[in-house]
Amino acid sequence: MTVPEAGRTVDITELILDDHHEQRRLFAILEQIGQADTKSLAAVWGRLGVFLELHAAAEEAIFYPMLLKVGLVARRQTATEAETLDAIKDHNEIRDAVTEVARYQAGASEWFAAVGAANLANSDHMAEEEREGLTDFRRLASLQQRHDLAVAFTAFQARNYSGVPVIDKDPQAYIREAESGLRDGSRGSLNIGGLKEP
Ligand SMILES: [Fe+2]
Ligand SMILES: [Fe+2]
Repeated sequence: MTVPEAGRTVDITELILDDHHEQRRLFAILEQIGQADTKSLAAVWGRLGVFLELHAAAEEAIFYPMLLKVGLVARRQTATEAETLDAIKDHNEIRDAVTEVARYQAGASEWFAAVGAANLANSDHMAEEEREGLTDFRRLASLQQRHDLAVAFTAFQARNYSGVPVIDKDPQAYIREAESGLRDGSRGSLNIGGLKEP
């Protein structure tokens, strides 16, 4: 852990908000592209779909284990476990919605409907995550922790920029695994199959 110099800190809660903004922006752009411009629709969606999966995987590898940890330390375990449980369920829904889009031809009405469903699932999740997990993390984590996680989050996304394996997770098992990783001090159990280490 390197102590950041004053004025040179980054913050994981800000990085997650930045990613959410980028996701909202790309969904809005998709709504402005003409239905006949299927190449542009497919290209923008291709980037957005990969980004949605990578963002969720980075949160699962880096952010939620630490939310659980600071929750344990601050005796707010019940709240942070409930927030994490909801988040993993939502991430599964978003992954499923992204997979569903791939079943259709870009520009077809079914394709737009599937993209709309992914937008809805993601919007609902982001609003909840911003209201709950990010807010609690700002209250419970130190600036140093927020900085260290920001660096790890960015490095994770950079290492896996081309995409991650799309794997739904059992929310209860995820929490058990993350908490046992915290107890034995290893991060090994937090790794996701096939991903480069966080
Ligand atoms: Fe999330
Ligand atoms: Fe998020």
